[in-house]
Amino acid sequence: MVIAIAGSGDLTRYLVEEFLAASIPVTLLIRTVKPHFADIPNLTQRIVDYNSIDSLTAALTESKATTLISTILTYDTTAFIETHKNLIAAAQASESVIRFIPSEYGVDIAKYPDQPGFYWETREPIREILQRQSKLEWTLICCGWIVDYIIPLQNRYMKDIGDAFPVNLAEKRMVIPGTGKEAVDWIAARDLARGLVALVRVPLGQWGRYVYLSGERMSCDELAEVVKKKYPDTQFQVEYLSLRTLVNGVRDAEDEFERVEAEYKIVIPSGSAGFEEGVVEKDRERYFPNVRFRGVREVLDAAGEEGVIV
Ligand SMILES: NC(=O)c1ccc[n+]([C@@H]2O[C@H](COP(=O)([O-])OP(=O)(O)OC[C@H]3O[C@@H](n4cnc5c(N)ncnc54)[C@H](OP(=O)(O)O)[C@@H]3O)[C@@H](O)[C@H]2O)c1
Repeated sequence: MVIAIAGSGDLTRYLVEEFLAASIPVTLLIRTVKPHFADIPNLTQRIVDYNSIDSLTAALTESKATTLISTILTYDTTAFIETHKNLIAAAQASESVIRFIPSEYGVDIAKYPDQPGFYWETREPIREILQRQSKLEWTLICCGWIVDYIIPLQNRYMKDIGDAFPVNLAEKRMVIPGTGKEAVDWIAARDLARGLVALVRVPLGQWGRYVYLSGERMSCDELAEVVKKKYPDTQFQVEYLSLRTLVNGVRDAEDEFERVEAEYKIVIPSGSAGFEEGVVEKDRERYFPNVRFRGVREVLDAAGEEGVIV
C-alpha cells in the first residue's frame, strides 16, 4: 500500500507522520519542495503540474499509489474544482490508484451539503463527478471542527485562523457564532489523521458514502469553560454573534475572502457542525475500533513543551 497526498499543508503534516508511523509509504504531490518533508525515509516529494492530467497520472503510477488523498485548500473556486477534476481523471488513468478521498474534512455534509456556503460551490461539483463514476472507491470525510486552535501555536501544525475559530488564543478573544448552545463535534488534527490511516486499511468495497469522525461533542459555551479553566491567568474577551449579524456579514462582505470567513461562522448556528446521535459511534465501531479519539480536555492537557505537536 502506498498513499499519495495532493496538498502539502498543515493537515498533511499530521497525515505524513501517522502514515509513516504505521509503516505506510507516502508520496506527496507538490508544487514546490518543502524542507520539512525532505530526507524522511518512506516519504517522497514529487513535483507535479496540477493543470496536467498526464503529469499527475505519471506521478501516481510511478509511485504505485493505491489511495489518493487530497488536502488541497484554496478559496479560488475554479482552481479547487479544476485540480480535483484533474486528480480524479489522473487517478482513474493511473495503473495503481483504486481509492480517492477528496478535500472535505468538514461538517455533516450528508445533511448540510451547502455548509459552509463556499463548500457547496467548490465541493459539490466534485461529489457529483465521483457519484457518476465507479472506477474509484471514494468517501466524504465529516469531522466537525478541528480543535487544535485551543492549544498554543508551538504545539500544533494548524496555522492561526484568528476569529474564524470560536477561541482565538493569540488575541485572548472568544467570538462565538450563535447562542453558544449549539452542539459541535471537535477533533484533534492528529486523531483525524489516525482515523484516515485506519480507513485506508479497511478492505476494499467497505467505505460508506460519508465517514464520521469526532473526538467529543460539546457546545461552544462548554468549550469556552474548559478552555478558561485551562488558562486561568488569561482574561478572554467574549462576544456572541447572532444569526442575523452573521447573515448580514455574508451579504455585506466586501471581497471573496470576507465572504468565505463570514460563511465559515454560519456553520455552528446552522446546526451542521454537530453530528446526529449515534453516527460517530457507528463509524467508530465500523472503521476505527483501534483508534483512540481524544476529548477536548485531553487535547488541552497534551500541549506542553515547545516542539511537542499534540
Ligand atoms: N474541519 C476543520 O476544522 C478544518 C480546519 C482546517 C482545515 N480543514 C480542511 O482540511 C483540508 C486541508 O487544510 P489545510 O489546513 O491543510 O490547508 P493548508 O495548510 O492551507 O494547505 C493547503 C494545500 O493546498 C495546496 N494548494 C492550494 N492551492 C492549490 C492549487 N491551485 N493547486 C494545487 N495545490 C494547491 C497548497 O499548496 P502549496 O503548499 O504549494 O501552497 C497547500 O499544500 C481542507 O479541505 C480544509 O478545508 C478543515
